[in-house]
Amino acid sequence: MEEDSNKINEIELEDLPSVGPAIAEKLRDAGFATIEAVAVASPSELSTAAEIGESTASKIISAARNMANVGSFESGEAILERRRKVGKIKTGSEDLDRLLGGGVETQSITELYGEFGSGKTQICHQLSVNVQQPVEMGGLNGAVVVIDTENTFRPERIIQMAEARGLDSNEILKNIYVAQAYNSNHQMLLVDNAKELANKLKKDGREVKLMVVDSLMAHFRSEYVGRGTLADRQQKLNRHLHDLMRFGDLFNAAIVVTNQVQAKPDTFFGDPTRPVGGHIVAHTATFRIYLRKSKGELRVARLIDSPHLPESEAVFKVTEGGIVDK
Ligand code: GTP
Ligand code: MG
Repeated sequence: MEEDSNKINEIELEDLPSVGPAIAEKLRDAGFATIEAVAVASPSELSTAAEIGESTASKIISAARNMANVGSFESGEAILERRRKVGKIKTGSEDLDRLLGGGVETQSITELYGEFGSGKTQICHQLSVNVQQPVEMGGLNGAVVVIDTENTFRPERIIQMAEARGLDSNEILKNIYVAQAYNSNHQMLLVDNAKELANKLKKDGREVKLMVVDSLMAHFRSEYVGRGTLADRQQKLNRHLHDLMRFGDLFNAAIVVTNQVQAKPDTFFGDPTRPVGGHIVAHTATFRIYLRKSKGELRVARLIDSPHLPESEAVFKVTEGGIVDK
């Protein structure tokens, strides 16, 4: 599976029939950076993006589908084999690890949601440190990609957390690759860029084992206001989550996304603890953790509708040294 996927990534847009450098450039500019992106496009989308006829677009799409293996079936055996490779990143709190069934899993999307100050960003920082440690220490020997949409990544926090564990903070910072996303399109494009980066790092013998998107919804939420645009937003969000999931599968990496809860409880739907983004996020995230503040440094995490773990709660602390048990 992994070898196949690498092959896919080495195929360039220019390898497609009728696609020369000029068309490839137009496609990339329009966000169709990979064979896979082309494979799942519609002929009209592609024809607009590349300024080509729809029949040419159809031919390009079907060639991309053959090359990218999109939508093909996988045997249960192959899936089991992939599942055997699932790694877990420890959070720093044993209670929180227990809640997650041992830690944050690779090949899954873990959604952290909760109000401001509930610890979402702190957990992301902590995981970015922990994932770099060897397996015996609760890590996966991996590098980190962070898509930061609200400019809340703080190297100073990483240094504190690394030093609390007796680690060389410079080394830790070197293995965290951070990009600011300026809007939702840019955010989506960064996942493609992250793939390129992860492939390059893999060749150098370093593997990306964690991708953080903090926050998943902020741009989508501010750009798509009002009911009329909701369907468009959900469609784009769906594609984004699919791309993230794909990244997790390709690199056997954990995907951690943060999400705010709706500021004002909607009187019709009543629940102030509902995360932004609605059903698509709910159905794609494999682990959903609802975080809330408790006294002082204490935080409570609750696992919401996980298919294979019981719903329960964990208590942990956010301290200067990072996430620890209470
Ligand atoms: P939003 O992004 O605003 O939605 O919130 P968030 O859930 O991402 O909050 P975040 O994870 O940034 O948590 C911020 C909280 O972490 C602060 O209010 C503090 O309680 C705690 N925190 C951050 N840094 C430190 C620190 O150095 N020491 C201690 N003790 N707590 C800290
Ligand atoms: Mg935050």
